[in-house]
Amino acid sequence: MNEILLSSKLKESFQCITPPSDCASDPKNFYYRTFDGSCNNFHTPDYGMATSRYLRMLAPKYSDGVSSPTASVTGSSLPNARLLSLSLYGESSLPDDYRTMAFYNGSIGSSRHDTFLKSNTTEDCCQQPESNNCYPIFLHPRGPISQSLSKKCLNFVRSASDTNTACRESGATYSEKITMTSAFLDLSFAYGNSINQNKNFRVFKSGQLKTSLVNNRNWLPLSMDPDSECGEENYQCYTLPDMRNQFIPTIAVLHTIIEARKINIAQYQKITFYDWLPLLVGPSYAYNNNILHRTATNEYVYDYKPTVNAAPYAEFAAAAFRYSHNQIPGWFSLVSSGRNSNRTLRLSNHFERPENLNLLWDGDNFDSLIRGLTTQLQKRPDSNIDKEIKHYFDRKSFEEYGSDLKSIDIQRGRDYGLPSYNDMRVYCGLPERRIGQDF
Ligand code: HEM
Repeated sequence: MNEILLSSKLKESFQCITPPSDCASDPKNFYYRTFDGSCNNFHTPDYGMATSRYLRMLAPKYSDGVSSPTASVTGSSLPNARLLSLSLYGESSLPDDYRTMAFYNGSIGSSRHDTFLKSNTTEDCCQQPESNNCYPIFLHPRGPISQSLSKKCLNFVRSASDTNTACRESGATYSEKITMTSAFLDLSFAYGNSINQNKNFRVFKSGQLKTSLVNNRNWLPLSMDPDSECGEENYQCYTLPDMRNQFIPTIAVLHTIIEARKINIAQYQKITFYDWLPLLVGPSYAYNNNILHRTATNEYVYDYKPTVNAAPYAEFAAAAFRYSHNQIPGWFSLVSSGRNSNRTLRLSNHFERPENLNLLWDGDNFDSLIRGLTTQLQKRPDSNIDKEIKHYFDRKSFEEYGSDLKSIDIQRGRDYGLPSYNDMRVYCGLPERRIGQDF
């Protein structure tokens, strides 16, 4: 998915996509998915389309009723997000039963977050905390990050909503966040979310995608424009819609394997639904609730419901599905073909680092990383977060500490005006929880 983080550059350039009024008039729409996801639903062409609004299970609880981050029921500020991260989450890292490949498959399909973190955010909210777009996370003076770096705050830019963009009026009394990518499992992180975006990756000959030749092997195309995707640090990166291709080498590995759109999308959907989802929710839950269907080899399932809007729910994207951040392993391994040697690399040495692509291209490393993904056990999804994510997240090469993804997640929930945990429990038909008795 797909939030947009505000920057003045983005606000000037951002336009909501207008879907075609008559999808059936273009025969291509019967055979191929559009890049922006429009016309997936012929009756309501904008359902699940890129640049549409998040859906809500419950109305947001913005403190001013319109767009300001959530406040406490007394009207005062909520407890500091970093303090909550430090006090509520442990830091041990116990292995789960599954391999990290399963985890990373979740990450490529779930979100497009970093696409906007680097490329569209020019604002440093620690420098201008009062700016409308800013909602920085202030650090406790005696916490590890601030003690070592005398850093006072973690940068946090609010996600864009329809009031900041040139999107059509929704008629709602509050502003709504905008998703940047389509809601479908359509590999848009590799192929782009619009025809124009996709043009950057095509050769326009024999249906091929651009590549770059390094060490006599074809890899994804490298960016030739120093001012573009690679961001202000101007290092090497691939030209792909999802900037996470450069975030860490294990994600770059998965993006490299994907080509030939229609077939690949079908394979990717099959893997996500029938291989990955049962690992996530359990096979019986998936089959008993008709999320998946048991079929004979040549049978097809048709359970498409045209009345369902496929757009992501804010509660899902800004809270529930981020559960997996607790599973991010603090290291990744490269495993040799004989499985007899194993090299382990620290995650925070590889956040958006120029060396990542060289690591991938060097010798047998690409294959070793794949073997690592299929060998290394993923971290257990419990209430612990690896230190690499809690204190060293997005650490630059010159820094001892970095940021804290858990604080960012907590702050993002408030940025989205999400209702409380108890509101959601009641919505799901569960009893409320009380501090003291239930925690
Ligand atoms: C190494 C692995 C991962 C890293 C480094 C990572 C990092 C991030 C970052 C930086 C954000 C944006 C935070 C913000 O500013 O609000 C984010 C958002 C998100 N992440 Fe991850 N993540 C990883 C894996 C995963 C996995 C495995 C899942 C789920 C299975 C996941 C689900 C999400 C979701 C749903 C969002 C919100 C996306 C949106 O609203 O557009 N992430 N992640």
